[in-house]
Amino acid sequence: MFRHLPPTAAPLSWSQWAAGWQRPRPGLPPRSPSFATQLATYLGVPACFTAASGRTALYLLLASLQAAHPGRDQVLLPAYTCPSLVKVILDVGLQPRLVEMSPETLDYAPGRVAQALSKRTLALIYVHPFGLALPVTDLLDAVHAAGAVLIEDAAQALGARWQGQQVGTWGDFGLYSLGPGKPLSAGGGGIVSANRPELAAALAAAWEQLPAAPARASLLAQARLAAFQLAFTPAGWWLASKIGLHKVGNNEASWGYARRGLSRAQAQVGAALLPGLAASNARRLANAHRLMTILAADERLTWPRPGTGAEPFYLRLPVLAANEAQREQLHHTLWSAGIGVGRMYERTLAGWFPQLASHPFPGAEAIAGRLLTLPTHHYLADADFDRVAAALSRSAGG
Ligand SMILES: Cc1ncc(COP(=O)(O)O)c(C=O)c1O
Repeated sequence: MFRHLPPTAAPLSWSQWAAGWQRPRPGLPPRSPSFATQLATYLGVPACFTAASGRTALYLLLASLQAAHPGRDQVLLPAYTCPSLVKVILDVGLQPRLVEMSPETLDYAPGRVAQALSKRTLALIYVHPFGLALPVTDLLDAVHAAGAVLIEDAAQALGARWQGQQVGTWGDFGLYSLGPGKPLSAGGGGIVSANRPELAAALAAAWEQLPAAPARASLLAQARLAAFQLAFTPAGWWLASKIGLHKVGNNEASWGYARRGLSRAQAQVGAALLPGLAASNARRLANAHRLMTILAADERLTWPRPGTGAEPFYLRLPVLAANEAQREQLHHTLWSAGIGVGRMYERTLAGWFPQLASHPFPGAEAIAGRLLTLPTHHYLADADFDRVAAALSRSAGG
């Protein structure tokens, strides 16, 4: 009763939230390195740059790449991913080019990136969705041979590893998000990692143009973070879903972004959260494995199997139903049982942006129609696993 698991949540203690209120000591050096420096050390890269959101960080990165390569105007991205990526690419004045995907892997479909690369390609965005670690190394050579750069979008995957190395650090640049529901959730914020020293210098110049966040941004961020934290509890989500608040943010109005730096409060909360990230991701992984043993008994469902060398942690567990009708039925059954299942973006990017529908994307359409995500966060209790099992067997019999 009064309990509904949210689709996503991230742990935050009072002391981690309170870290956001710390003020610099006048006239004294800071007690610890900046958040950007701590992130660079954590990821093992030359430099990281922070901004008000992942979208802001991507905007600055693409604008600086565009200035350096004026003859190249296309950015390749998966045909099913976060729609705000397209908005950013268009805002910079570049052309998004959608690439077909495989439902079995949630990766690009084999051979499709090679077909799409051309002299016009400025960058390929390689997304590691839901904390998966996809085989980024397979594409690096082809992207570089085409004279383009590879941006790994690890917005949902901070802490996942591919062949022992953090995802986001294999390509030329990595993109990470500190937004609500992300692995390290400071209520908002974005990061770009420059993965080679010569790339860091160009980004440093781009970041000089970024206005600093005003003091009130810290106040707002702390209030937002507290509100999200309360909403993303089982009791808070129960209430939010009763009054319809759970749908806030599921629309185009939420794609906008402020072009300014990360607020001091968010940087301080992020730094306070970083030491606990590995433990929080390990817990998600353990919960995901427990869910998989339950789902394995249900032949309607499949999910992407990690390749050799992948160390995913499952920010959410992505599963595919056999078809859309079955997905809808499962969504209804699990949601009614108090489990915060999600359908994510619901449409392909060609569905959101019809001007990009150059040809059909059956693989991406299949993902949009069949995908269901299950929560893996720290609020899952023994009784929730039992609820998932009972709901699945009820719906299989019904
Ligand atoms: C795959 C992916 N890329 C980029 C972003 C943008 O990050 P932000 O919300 O911090 O702007 C998101 C956010 O949801 C995302 O899921």
